[in-house]
Amino acid sequence: MDKIVIEGGSRLQGEVEVGGAKNAALPLMLAALLTDEPCRLTKVPGVADIDTAGKLLAGLGASIERRPGGEVLIDCSSVDQWEAPYDLVRKMRASFVALGPLLARFGRARVSWPGGCAIGSRPVDIHLSALARLGAKIEQRHGYVEADARQLKGGHVIFEKPSVGATENLLMAACLAKGSTRLENAAREPEIVDLAEALAKMGAHIEGAGSSIIEIEGVERLAAMDHEVVSDRIVAATYLVAAAITGGDVVVRGARPEHLQSPLEVLTAMGATIETPTLPTGSAGPGRAGALRLVMAQQPRPLQIGTAPYPGFPTDLQAQFMALACFADGDSTIEESIFENRFMHVQELARMGAEISLVGHRATVRGAKLLSGAPVMATDLRASVSLVLAGLAARGRTEVLRVYHLDRGYESIEQKLSCLGADIRRERD
Ligand code: EPZ
Repeated sequence: MDKIVIEGGSRLQGEVEVGGAKNAALPLMLAALLTDEPCRLTKVPGVADIDTAGKLLAGLGASIERRPGGEVLIDCSSVDQWEAPYDLVRKMRASFVALGPLLARFGRARVSWPGGCAIGSRPVDIHLSALARLGAKIEQRHGYVEADARQLKGGHVIFEKPSVGATENLLMAACLAKGSTRLENAAREPEIVDLAEALAKMGAHIEGAGSSIIEIEGVERLAAMDHEVVSDRIVAATYLVAAAITGGDVVVRGARPEHLQSPLEVLTAMGATIETPTLPTGSAGPGRAGALRLVMAQQPRPLQIGTAPYPGFPTDLQAQFMALACFADGDSTIEESIFENRFMHVQELARMGAEISLVGHRATVRGAKLLSGAPVMATDLRASVSLVLAGLAARGRTEVLRVYHLDRGYESIEQKLSCLGADIRRERD
């Protein structure tokens, strides 16, 4: 297993480019199951979860071609299976979003029960009750969800809470259902909007993606997809925190300010100066490009945040901002309201000298700590990157072990941080 070794103390400066969003690319790849025409995705990040999604599709009989530079070609015309196996679903819960497209295309699906993960129990009840509203017969047998629907029919779904995965499953199932579907209390993430835009290009009739009410008019079939994956707002914000935690000056190319309002407000309140540099003429069209510059010329001020469904403060940035809060000139509070166990990074940050107290879902972070480097253990994707961030600013050497967690969602992070001036390298453990 690899480890990441960091000598802390370098002030980051320069430019970094952010790629396509893992959490958009995964449902987009599964959306290829909805058509027998060839699909092409660009700006797909080169991360482990994308490899897993490719294996899942290949296992169903699809052909996948990965080209350099993030281009992926998928052809599901010869798909003749409808089972998403346990060994892939347990590795990557996002595979559960294969259920909707398989059901829509083949009228049946057998998807492994995802099971929990480090950050929580991760139930799928909202997915299943919503699909039943579209006429699916759902059984749970031998650790698998078995769904049957001769023909899905449109329905009225009110989600008991916004769920990204359930909204994606229902969006894709409803595209080929007979009649119209109304989703209420739908998730509003930019990755949902990106999926809806791609489905519309394939011929789907969708209104309201990005709001909490989405209307879908079912169609007979969907055509080819050709889509550029939206940029990764979580990775972009992670690099902004790297600039802030080291008192640096960094431009993040590809960051979309309109997708980061809540984290940018927090960074500004902590004392960062944030600009949107004008893009060179001829850069990508409006709306697909973007850039953000962050300068941190003072010790961060403390923060008070609570995670919430989009457009609230993203749970996927909670660990990163906790690392930053350790260096603030006062005590911070962080409420995690989305997942029940997303404080695994706290014990590891404590090994570096952080003083963080947990009461239920609330963490109180004592600031003004001069963290010292230490060997620490990654436990999940975003916890692992918070340890890298803390290591950048801590005194001395930090070793982050089990970086396979990091590789699930961050492409070449040590190269990108080292280009910004960090003393960071990957070693075989
Ligand atoms: C997506 O997970 C993301 N993953 C997660 O990112 C992200 O943290 C999460 O959305 C919330 O924004 C991908 O997009 C691949 P949810 P998802 O369904 O869809 C509960 C990362 O680090 N719930 O929106 O699984 C659930 O337990 C990952 O990139 C039910 O109770 O999240 C949670 O408390 C981690 N029943 C809340 O809803 C259900 O049927 C939100 O979960 C489904 C969800």
